[in-house]
Amino acid sequence: MAVDTNPKLIVVADNAALAETAAQRLVDRVMSEDRAAVCLTGGSSPEGLYRLLAREPWRAIVPWDRVHWFIGDDRFVPGSDPLSNMGMARRLFLGSVPAPRQNIHPIATEAKSPDEAARLYEEDLKRFYGADTLDPSFPLFDLVLMGLGSDGHTASLFPHSPALDEKERWVVGVPKAGMEPFVPRVTLTFPVLASTREMLFLVESPEKRAILGRVLSGEALPARRAYSNGELVWLITRDVAPKK
Ligand code: 6PG
Repeated sequence: MAVDTNPKLIVVADNAALAETAAQRLVDRVMSEDRAAVCLTGGSSPEGLYRLLAREPWRAIVPWDRVHWFIGDDRFVPGSDPLSNMGMARRLFLGSVPAPRQNIHPIATEAKSPDEAARLYEEDLKRFYGADTLDPSFPLFDLVLMGLGSDGHTASLFPHSPALDEKERWVVGVPKAGMEPFVPRVTLTFPVLASTREMLFLVESPEKRAILGRVLSGEALPARRAYSNGELVWLITRDVAPKK
């Protein structure tokens, strides 16, 4: 499979349309699989999508018993902390839909350090994948959701961080976050995030217009350095789209 570094842009009217479009793409990706894997993202942009998945008609459409839910990065705080990304996904949908417990794969933020949590999550991912090496023709994920930070970061891959150049490890500890909240993080690295049939960025806040313009014009910010072994799609609302 060729590596996709050239994003396809989908512009929708508003936040509601963004959530609906993302839900449809998610369902399209997982529907035909015997066992599907979705890598979730934190931040506020996916909240509308997560709320939608907990409600009809989506709740009845998603084949919950066949989908596994991972997270692209998390803050090193307990799952019950309001800052926890997986905690947010549980509050908004995973905790109230018929997803089997064993299909939910949180990062072990109760481990003794972010590095230890990263090691454990890498083990979990490798166990699920069934191999220690990624084969581009056999993607780990069916869908990877991503966000865009106002400094151009994505997942917890911040500008100038050594994690950006990681080629071997699937998951790394990030001792210092590049922006708020300033808590240590654990993040998947580019090669493992790329192991997907589709990478889908969600961007919906008008405050992101300037940084999105820089990313789409090709500036080597982390979000632009993300690539996909499958499709690479940026789903954005009209009010964030760069002005023509
Ligand atoms: C995190 C995220 C991060 C997020 C962006 C965008 O843990 O903070 O995973 O990468 O996606 O910061 O966040 P918003 O959607 O809130 O703008």
